[in-house]
Amino acid sequence: MPDTTPPDTTPPKTKPILRALAGETLPVPPIWMMRQAGRYLPEYRATRARAGDFLSLCYNSDLATEVTLQPIRRYGFDAAILFADILLVPQALGADLWFVTGEGPRLSTITDRAGVDRLKQAADIHETLAPIYQTVRNLSGALPPEVALIGFAGAPWTVATYMIAGRGTPDQGPAHALKDSDRAVFDALMERITEATIEYLSAQIAAGAEVVKIFDSWAGSLTGADFERYATEPARRITAALKERHPGIPVIAFPRGAGEKYVGFHGRSGADCVAVDDAVSAEWVAENVQVDGCVQGNLKSSHMVTGGEALVSETRRTVEALRHGPYIFNLGHGITPDADPDNVQRMIDAVRG
Ligand code: CP3
Repeated sequence: MPDTTPPDTTPPKTKPILRALAGETLPVPPIWMMRQAGRYLPEYRATRARAGDFLSLCYNSDLATEVTLQPIRRYGFDAAILFADILLVPQALGADLWFVTGEGPRLSTITDRAGVDRLKQAADIHETLAPIYQTVRNLSGALPPEVALIGFAGAPWTVATYMIAGRGTPDQGPAHALKDSDRAVFDALMERITEATIEYLSAQIAAGAEVVKIFDSWAGSLTGADFERYATEPARRITAALKERHPGIPVIAFPRGAGEKYVGFHGRSGADCVAVDDAVSAEWVAENVQVDGCVQGNLKSSHMVTGGEALVSETRRTVEALRHGPYIFNLGHGITPDADPDNVQRMIDAVRG
């Protein structure tokens, strides 16, 4: 039988981040930074002032496009991350959401079955989120050809912690209380968020996102079987659904604070890349996590504030530990508003050195 398989005409992946996500070890790791569009940049503060409040900026596609591009222009990062927020999904599901300056987000709370039943169905979130998809479309036409566009959403557990408490909480106490006192209601809420997250990320990919990242900022407070059930399993379901709808789409999972549970997380979640926080050492990550695939992280964000020799030496140490396998350089968590923009350039120079 002659071989009738059509020749593979898909272009080779050339964007450095996509190559690292496909498992390639690159001579210089691609770089981006969590919260790279943010208050440490004077140009961000100026655009945010024009928009009014933070949520108006998220829903203004032209200004959201502009702030997404600002760190790309200033630093030449290898990826842009869509400017939006993980709490737009609860809002699209029907929760009230507002931001108190200097304090953070506030939401209407969900404490019982009636609260879950009042939420919209996952398929009905798109009208609210349409401006976000427009931002993605704008960006996919505006980015330099070597820069990849990352879409994102919060992981169900992290989003649930805000929906249950109505705000950020140091120990996620209210979410743990609902989970442990009324598991059926908690599971119904997790289910609704999981379905909405699949819908939301799928629409971002359809609009042009080339990678998606799932932020589980509070995964570290889940222990034992709860971690597998409420951090790993939702990440696995979301990843599988996205890859079924969009074959080949790379997924970055960030179960922040997972510690020992980072080990094997690639395999358990199906994610192409596991992002690690700075509570684990880069050397430990190389030995225990990078053996399974691409990793991203994990310089301490505070070096962007303090700078100096420690910034350069810690950046070099992190790169040296992780450059022997598939790797994307990043911070261990988001850059903070008090960071010095010049320190970001020093970090990039130390990586690309
Ligand atoms: O990384 C980026 O540049 C893309 C945009 C982005 C934002 N939030 C913009 C933002 C992303 C990826 C997020 C994710 C996000 N949002 C997370 C997960 C990551 C993490 O940091 O753990 C969480 C938990 C949120 C919820 C949220 N949004 C909080 C708790 C706050 C207030 C705290 C703070 O930093 O002020 C926000 C506000 C927010 N989201 C800002 C930005 C730039 C600051 C808002 C402003 O301009 O006043």
